[in-house]
Order: sequence, then structure tokens, then C-alpha cells
Amino acid sequence: TRGGLVGSEMCIRDRNIGATLAPRELITDRPDLAGAWTAKIITLFPETFPGVLGASLTGKALQDGLWKLEPIDLRLFGEGKHRNVDDTPAGGGAGMVLRPDIMGRAIQFAQKNAPQDRTRWPLVYLSPRGKPFDQQTARRFAAADGITMICGRFEGLDQRVIDHYDIEEVSIGDYVLTGGEIAAQAILDATIRLRAGVLGNATSTEEESFSEGLLEHPQYTRPADWEGHKVPDVLTSGDHGKVAEWRQKEAEHLTRTRRPDLWRAYTAKPENNSTD
Ligand code: ADE
Repeated sequence: TRGGLVGSEMCIRDRNIGATLAPRELITDRPDLAGAWTAKIITLFPETFPGVLGASLTGKALQDGLWKLEPIDLRLFGEGKHRNVDDTPAGGGAGMVLRPDIMGRAIQFAQKNAPQDRTRWPLVYLSPRGKPFDQQTARRFAAADGITMICGRFEGLDQRVIDHYDIEEVSIGDYVLTGGEIAAQAILDATIRLRAGVLGNATSTEEESFSEGLLEHPQYTRPADWEGHKVPDVLTSGDHGKVAEWRQKEAEHLTRTRRPDLWRAYTAKPENNSTD
């Protein structure tokens, strides 16, 4: 592997692939069970991976083999001279729909060496119609052995593929992206950083935003006075109890004013009732 990239990465950039010839990397029978946490990404734009995931902590972890990336070029499964992958929508209308037979072959290929159990290996389609991705979902994905992600383009995926493979639809927010690649990278980032060894400090994922159901309190550093703006006195008092109390109050205030939805969920928990 080069830089932690495995599988079809090299053949993706090879324009000399014959119409019927599967690249050597695509016909491997090596099981993925024993290896590192692996993300298989079905996409028409494999060159957009690892993208931002190649930088910083996720990039270092990729190079160190703490996780693996296997972009799968959907175009390789396309048909005809132009390797077509899409067709016009049944019933008419704008745009194009990814063909179920083409996507079906790509999914079969991706799942061949992956565990069937979706708890161990979720099969996800990135779509604005999906269930909203959140920290709890990141923890569930991180607890698996790996994941297969389908990135759509155009008007989307034929519904029969979603139904047939019981694909989990996941959204990263109420807006429409051009394709699933950016959403996949966002989800992978949130997931991979929860894996052991990826972050330097093992306890740091437990205290952050959302882990307790609250937004994170504000942070300050030196200088103590910047352009007349002072660091709150309590933070330089050395009183750890007071600091913790202040941070809790700030986190609650931010959550209540910015995210009433999170605040309702937080206050509904019996263990948080006392601070109501
Ligand atoms: N693809 C296009 N828009 C998306 C979104 N908001 N979330 C996930 N995948 C998408």
C-alpha cells in the first residue's frame, strides 16, 4: 500500500483498463476481517479521497495503518464504450438516476470480503433524505470493523437498490450537496477520530461537545489581555471547582440559547434535572 491507500486506488487512475478486464486489485479474495478499520467508498470521483482525511490526525492515522481507505470507482462497473452508470428517471423529469444494475455490481464487489452483519459493517448511502448523522452514529460506526459508503451524484440512486440491500441512508444536514463525497469525508472524520490511537489524548473525546449533550464552553489562552479583551478571572483563579462550575454554566447557556432541540433532550434526562 502507498500512504495507507489500498485496493483500487492505483487502477482508478489507470486509463488503460480494458472494457471487460477487472484490475488485479479489484479481483482480490483477501478477506477484510482481520485488518484495520476500513472504509470502502463507492464513488464516481475516487480521486477526491482521502481528500481532507489525508491531513492532520486522520492522515497520520491512515499512514500508520490505524485505518484503511478503499475507494471503489463506480465507473469500472459501468456499461458500454462510455461505461455508462446512469439513465433518465422513470416517469420523466430533470437529471439522471444511477442505474440499479451498475450500483448493484459495485455493492456486491464491496461487500464480498466484508462481514454480512451490518452492526459490524454498516452499508450507508449519503443522501439529504437520510437520518441525520450525529455523534451517537459516529460512535456506532467507530465500533464496527469498517463501513461501506455509497456516494451519489445526479438525482440519486434507484430506490430498488436501497430496498434490496437494506441500505442505511444518512444525511449530514439540511442542505443539498452536489454529491456524497464531502458528506462521506465529514462522517469518516468524525468516526475515525473516535478510534483508539487516532487522537493523542485518549480522554479528549469524552469531554467534548455532544458527548454530554451540551455545546462546549468557550476557550481562552494567553495573552490574558488582548486588545482590551480579558480572559475571564475565574479561569486564572486556580480554583478548579469554580472553573468547572463556570464551564458547565457557559455550556448550558450556549445550548439553551443556540440549540433548544439539544437543550430539551438534555433537560429531559433525569441526571440533568438538578441544573434546570
Ligand atoms: N448528498 C447530497 N447532500 C447530502 C447531505 N446533505 N448529506 C449527505 N449526503 C448528501
